[in-house]
Amino acid sequence: ASGPLLDTYGRVATDLRISLTDRCNLRCTYCMPAEGLDWMPTEQLLTADEIARLMRVAVVDLGVEEIRFTGGEPLLRKDLPQIVAAAAALDPRPDISLTTNGLGLTRRVGQLRAAGLDRVNVSLDTIDRVEFQSITRRDRIDDVFAGLRAAHDAGLAPIKVNAVLRPGCNDDDAPDLLQFCLDHHFELRIIEQMPLDAGHDWRRSDMITAERARELLSRRFTLTPEPTPRGSAPAQRWLVDGGPATVGIIASVTEPFCAACDRTRLTADGQIRNCLFAREETDLRSLLRSGASDAAIARRWRAAMWSKRAGHGIGDPDFTQPGRPMSAIGG
Ligand code: GTP
Ligand code: 5AD
Ligand code: SF4
Repeated sequence: ASGPLLDTYGRVATDLRISLTDRCNLRCTYCMPAEGLDWMPTEQLLTADEIARLMRVAVVDLGVEEIRFTGGEPLLRKDLPQIVAAAAALDPRPDISLTTNGLGLTRRVGQLRAAGLDRVNVSLDTIDRVEFQSITRRDRIDDVFAGLRAAHDAGLAPIKVNAVLRPGCNDDDAPDLLQFCLDHHFELRIIEQMPLDAGHDWRRSDMITAERARELLSRRFTLTPEPTPRGSAPAQRWLVDGGPATVGIIASVTEPFCAACDRTRLTADGQIRNCLFAREETDLRSLLRSGASDAAIARRWRAAMWSKRAGHGIGDPDFTQPGRPMSAIGG
């Protein structure tokens, strides 16, 4: 029953991104409204055991090599250490990483590391306290700093910092953010904002492009392209002042990396998405709860990937934003 997650363009999905919850303890203005969203009902969320089963099918039957946990905010799942441990018990053991806003990492990183977590990426859009509060609507920047320090002290490496820049907001802070990351040996990645906000307010014209991000950083640093091939990594890396430190720029909109995409996604409510921007989802939760065999689950998953489109199509005349926001799909 084994065989890879192949699509009609010859891409093979070996990187599974699992959203563990659509909830979050921040309210980033570019992501969700101050009052939050209509959260998924608990009974629709996959349990830790269900996630463990699907991870096993993904790794053993479908050839998945890397598992990343996202959200919403994945640290809000109390059972995260169990889920990480279940991933780490698989043979072959996948690479296990977490994308988090960092709140609460201080308390939990030791246990997560012991359970088998290999890496973390922490979202931090600015190191300016006031700006942080205005973006996230919460005065929690010290918790993020502490979380980063705890991750470093726990021996997780490399630690990546993800930042979305917004014009007239945190764009001018970008050089300070890079200096902070250089000082602490974190790898900064600047991300182009994609049309995945709950409010559907995204406009291409007010996105900080990869090119603009390079200009902003070049006010203080000299960037030269990093020579090693990028493979399926979304970030184009640049050497900072000759290296060895680098900064990554994720140009999802202006220079899409869809042709090299190796991702498959599982939402917190058990739906497979073959792309962030997929128009349809495939319901694994119902299949799972109807008592299906591993082989039947694997077959449904392979079928879901077969219909993956060539690219996200942002900018095409018929482009429509996905029905669910990024917090419900998984970042
Ligand atoms: P590593 O480099 O292995 O650490 O992973 P990563 O860069 O995929 O991880 P992360 O979860 O930190 O994602 C960084 C950003 O990449 C996200 O915030 C998204 O903006 C973008 N991204 C993640 N997945 C996708 C995807 O499937 N398609 C596109 N276009 N962008 C993505
Ligand atoms: N486009 C790109 N990145 C986004 N993030 C949240 N919303 C968007 C968007 N619309 C980022 C967060 C976090 C990561 C998981 O995704 O800032 O770093
Ligand atoms: Fe939470 Fe991430 Fe959305 Fe910010 S961008 S509100 S940290 S899910």
